[in-house]
Amino acid sequence: MTNKRIYLAPMVGRTDKHFRMLVRILSKNINLYTEMITCDAFLNTDRQAYQVKKNEHPITIQLAGTDPNKFAKCSEIAEVNGYDEINLNIGCPSNKVIKGEFGAILMDYPEKVSKCVKEIKKSCSLPISIKTRLGLGYDKNLNRLKKLIDMTKDSGCTNFIIHARNAILGKLSPKKNRTVPELRYEDVLYIKKTYPDLKIILNGGISTLDDIKKNIKDYDGIMIGRKIYDEPMFLLELEKELFDMNKTTSIKKLVYTYKSYIDEEIKNGENKYYMLRHLYNIYYKTEYSKKWKHLLSSIIQGKSNIENLLNFTVVCDEEKIHTNS
Ligand SMILES: Cc1cc2nc3c(=O)[nH]c(=O)nc-3n(C[C@H](O)[C@H](O)[C@H](O)COP(=O)(O)O)c2cc1C
Repeated sequence: MTNKRIYLAPMVGRTDKHFRMLVRILSKNINLYTEMITCDAFLNTDRQAYQVKKNEHPITIQLAGTDPNKFAKCSEIAEVNGYDEINLNIGCPSNKVIKGEFGAILMDYPEKVSKCVKEIKKSCSLPISIKTRLGLGYDKNLNRLKKLIDMTKDSGCTNFIIHARNAILGKLSPKKNRTVPELRYEDVLYIKKTYPDLKIILNGGISTLDDIKKNIKDYDGIMIGRKIYDEPMFLLELEKELFDMNKTTSIKKLVYTYKSYIDEEIKNGENKYYMLRHLYNIYYKTEYSKKWKHLLSSIIQGKSNIENLLNFTVVCDEEKIHTNS
């Protein structure tokens, strides 16, 4: 049993409100994150999808931008909407982000980030966190990161999520920036030891329970992205092993609950595709995976009825019982 937090990593196109619902059915303990949203988008578009639901707590909103006043305005709204924490994205390596001067490039402008933190602090009472990288380019020196931490902690940031890699800007795609730069957990550990009073959360490449168990004692939490999206049922292992939750759900119950959610959302005008797509990986690495994906695709294309999701899980359960008896 741990009192440390496990965080769902923010992932654009993945950790939307529907996926967060799926994750929450599987795990009561994980700290949810929204996808990154720019301050401009948050201020100027319909914020319906950013209303926090009761069962989403604890949940952090991740904002991106460079304008302290816009950050302040967004944070004020986020607090009213029920978020538990404001996170600043200082780690995104996409080219679009570089042009807009936000994301990882801001590691080179710690005074700007510090000003944003100061304004957020004035506008709301929520904890503030920064998600960042170890450094930029091929430079393994940690001075850039330390300067960012020094300046922003003095402005009121208390939590730092460190993706244990550098960001290589302008040369690698965002996807490659999540695999090519070397993982350096030892450098994140050095940062934790240098700042024992700050909350330091390790992120990057965590993909087994052993990885979590090995590292969690050294940090204030662990953040996991791709492993959870690629294999959502991993969350059940996590609930059992880390949080002593004996009564976890099953695929059948998960699909039943999520399908009720889909039915309600369809009535509210949501497109079923955006909800069904998150179910693709729930039979990951099992003999049922291929048929399940095929069924989902045919439901999305309107060739099969959504009720067949439930039938599928019942048949799988029966087959399993017969095989085991
Ligand atoms: C599809 C995708 C989208 C992502 N979008 C974001 C994002 O919006 N904000 C962010 O800070 N990181 C984003 N990331 C990076 C993850 O949050 C995380 O730092 C990275 O995947 C490393 O963790 P992992 O090895 O556990 O996946 C994204 C990653 C993926 C795979």
